[in-house]
Amino acid sequence: MTLLGQDQLHASLTDPVLSSIGFLNEVMTRFPEAISFAPGAPHLAHLMDTDLSRYIELFGEHLRATRGFDAHRVRRLLYEYGPARGLINDLVAAAVRADHGIDVPDRAVVITVGAQEAMLLTLRALFRDRSDVLAVVEPCFVGILGAARLLDIEVVAVPERADGPDLDALEETRARLAAQGRRIRAMYVAPDHANPSGTVMDLAARRALLAAADRSELMLIEDNAYCFTAAPGTELPSLKALPGGERVVQIGTFAKLCLPGARVGYAIADQQMTGADGALRLLADDLAALKSMVTVNTSPLCQAVIAGMLLEQGGSLAALGRRRGTLYRRNLGLLLQALDRHVPPLPDVRWNRPQGGFFVRMQLPVPVDEALLERSAARFGVLWTPMAQFYLSDAGERELRLSCSYLDPEQIDQGVRRLAAFLREVAAPVGAGT
Ligand SMILES: Cc1ncc(COP(=O)(O)O)c(C=O)c1O
Repeated sequence: MTLLGQDQLHASLTDPVLSSIGFLNEVMTRFPEAISFAPGAPHLAHLMDTDLSRYIELFGEHLRATRGFDAHRVRRLLYEYGPARGLINDLVAAAVRADHGIDVPDRAVVITVGAQEAMLLTLRALFRDRSDVLAVVEPCFVGILGAARLLDIEVVAVPERADGPDLDALEETRARLAAQGRRIRAMYVAPDHANPSGTVMDLAARRALLAAADRSELMLIEDNAYCFTAAPGTELPSLKALPGGERVVQIGTFAKLCLPGARVGYAIADQQMTGADGALRLLADDLAALKSMVTVNTSPLCQAVIAGMLLEQGGSLAALGRRRGTLYRRNLGLLLQALDRHVPPLPDVRWNRPQGGFFVRMQLPVPVDEALLERSAARFGVLWTPMAQFYLSDAGERELRLSCSYLDPEQIDQGVRRLAAFLREVAAPVGAGT
């Protein structure tokens, strides 16, 4: 007996965005010998020597030293439910103040279950009803597209130029929606080495976007997951740190800097509001209220681990980022060199040359779909991510994404040799080799 039909369930369940990650995991499981350029996972070298209890102990010592907590009180704090807003907000607020020039009170920080939860909560709070639309640049991180789908929020794509969103197109979209009585409520952007495009917004583009947001009265959701991969001396101020940053909710993650398995991220939401009772509150207070009905609180134990890792580096996100960033820049350099070395000139095969982040995008002359990925895995032993899932339009149909973050140098070289063999087969001109 069929109890439930798909048509009785939420529409997001049939959205390709929701099945994209599951499909990649499934292919990786079926082809365990394949070298995978698919996941944007951190390198295991960072994780294998991680002594969790030492980090928890470090946080306990910090609580004893700064708040006078005895061992019993520390245990209660870590073993019980915790405040929805988080336990390590002061450490994160101090770190973003010192390292990113973002000066907000501890109360403006909400510690979340990864950046993913921060996105979900931020969208839920900001989007009032169906007339509110989310703008993204295309291609765009699937996490925000998926969160929007779950919440029935309509998403519009704005084309991306070399230095960030096309602001003329943003204005055209705003005007078109306004004529229908709708508004762009917020725009999601990742100004530093975006996933998957690798784009970095230069300072002028950041200022121009903030000015456009102000003119159009839209909020910005800034995701800074990959800012730590910038080469030393090339870092740019985040949108949140620039004049006009009060329109920005910044979303951060410790997944790439520390441990993805800890699932710790944060939202910085210092926007002030007056409630119905006349009391002043911050958007972060509302995010925490929503969170109390989603995940209740972020695991105190996981927060303690992340706090310990941060404290070990003197409480500095920049110091953590320097340690981690070097390996990713090395890997990206190796990937680009291997592509230059092993991939012969082939018609309509091109790739970008990002300066940071985890990803390279590659254009192919053929449709890049799940069938092609199967062929690549089964016959050539190499995996990658089809780019279509990062697009709302069909513009990504002939593109794939290569991630280099968790591979070793030999795997990168070997994987690109395999990729080159695959490309020779799918992209060689008709009649080549005859
Ligand atoms: C752009 C972007 N934001 C955030 C994240 C991390 O999210 P989380 O903290 O939920 O693991 C990722 C991970 O792939 C990402 O690519």
